[in-house]
Amino acid sequence: MSSYKFKGHEIQGAGLGLRSSHYQEIFDTKPDVPWFELLSDNYMSDGGLPIIRAEKIREDYPVTLHGVGMSLGSTDPLNTDYLSKLKALTDRIEPTYVSDHIAWVSVGGKYTHDLLPLPYTEETLHHISDRISQVQEFLGRKILVENPSSYMTFDSTDMTEAEFIKGITQRTDCDLLLDINNIYVSAVNHDFDPYEYLKGIPSDRVKEIHLAGYEKMDNYLFDTHGYQVHPPVWDLYRAALKQFGAIPTLIEWDTDVPSFTTLRQEAKKAEQQLKAFS
Ligand SMILES: [Fe+2]
Repeated sequence: MSSYKFKGHEIQGAGLGLRSSHYQEIFDTKPDVPWFELLSDNYMSDGGLPIIRAEKIREDYPVTLHGVGMSLGSTDPLNTDYLSKLKALTDRIEPTYVSDHIAWVSVGGKYTHDLLPLPYTEETLHHISDRISQVQEFLGRKILVENPSSYMTFDSTDMTEAEFIKGITQRTDCDLLLDINNIYVSAVNHDFDPYEYLKGIPSDRVKEIHLAGYEKMDNYLFDTHGYQVHPPVWDLYRAALKQFGAIPTLIEWDTDVPSFTTLRQEAKKAEQQLKAFS
């Protein structure tokens, strides 16, 4: 039986990613933030400071767990050590959602620091769906999977990303974390219409939204998470809220992390948009 005052099954509004530089301010001031997202990979320890901090946050806020280590698209065997640690963390923290990415990060047991893209084919759809189902069975809960940003495509791809994602939800019953910045970045990089992409996403599956700031390079957009959200991403976000409703939204700002005040101001912009659609 949970001892947390927020039972962890409902989040609303614009949450914040928990960053180490903000711990003390949050612990000292207990700001009025609807929920926090924790990077699960940073808290997967049996004891010590990380888990103490995570539990301290959890005493006052609902949380979600977002990770980068499931390597759902990889051909490596599923990493049961990683999943066991994640399961222990979810049992302890009772997050509202657990999420990871439609990507792969490991090959031959070696891990990269990048979320690498998949070709979108029937074969890869079958492969990743099978692994998502296994992960859900292992964790004893549904997970959310997030659409990637990408900088290359594959000749073998024969379906759109939205079709691929819809196929995943149909085969696994998982839900979606829709990253609006990622859609926009990939749309510019690969010259597709992001509004058409949205139309292909099954509305009843979207449980969380991410927003972030990209960096404009010479001939592509780079998903750096180091800036405020750019105007075209706010426009696409409004279209998403119109289609999906007031979905809980998180501002991702994890490089050049700003002051807690600046981060909250950015979240308040999302909160204003959410109010218009709730
Ligand atoms: Fe994201």
